[in-house]
Amino acid sequence: MKKYNFTVVYPGSFDPPTNGHLDLITRAIKMFKKVIVLVTNNTFKKYTFSVEERVDMLNLVIKKNKLQNVKVEKHNGLLVDYLKKNNINIVLRGLRAVSDFEYEFQMVLTNRKMFPQMETIYLMPDIKWIYLSSSLVKEISKFGGDISCFVPKVIISIIKQKFEKLK
Ligand code: PNS
Repeated sequence: MKKYNFTVVYPGSFDPPTNGHLDLITRAIKMFKKVIVLVTNNTFKKYTFSVEERVDMLNLVIKKNKLQNVKVEKHNGLLVDYLKKNNINIVLRGLRAVSDFEYEFQMVLTNRKMFPQMETIYLMPDIKWIYLSSSLVKEISKFGGDISCFVPKVIISIIKQKFEKLK
């Protein structure tokens, strides 16, 4: 496959990372020169894992899957400020069901107002993950359910331990 010669930023909450996120990162590194997975906060969400824990989980997933040309970073603030500071203008997001569309539309247009050079590329995960979300994984974990088919193997115990502690 032809690789596009630019860096993309894949921002998200990743609270926790799921097989859907891994699917997207794997697709992206085949397409782009470099992928930066950016752990950022959505102020409307209450997080279970700290930014550091989310960064560590993503690094474990990347290492375990031997993914090349991908780097995990964290950012506290506006996405557009990170992009401007790092001279990047392409953002990558995953699009699952139609329900994602309105939120993404709002985010793109708002970000564009603040940083007109920014463009967002959407990739769809494999159909297996189209319904999957971090919130569902948390809900299942909270009640002691089996999350092994929803998240990368290497982080299952970390997620389980977190919910054990929160009990
Ligand atoms: O995984 P999520 O929660 O859908 O990701 C949303 C995220 C974190 C990418 C978005 O909330 C974000 O960019 N947050 C950083 C702060 C910001 O720039 N907010 C303005 C969005 S228009």
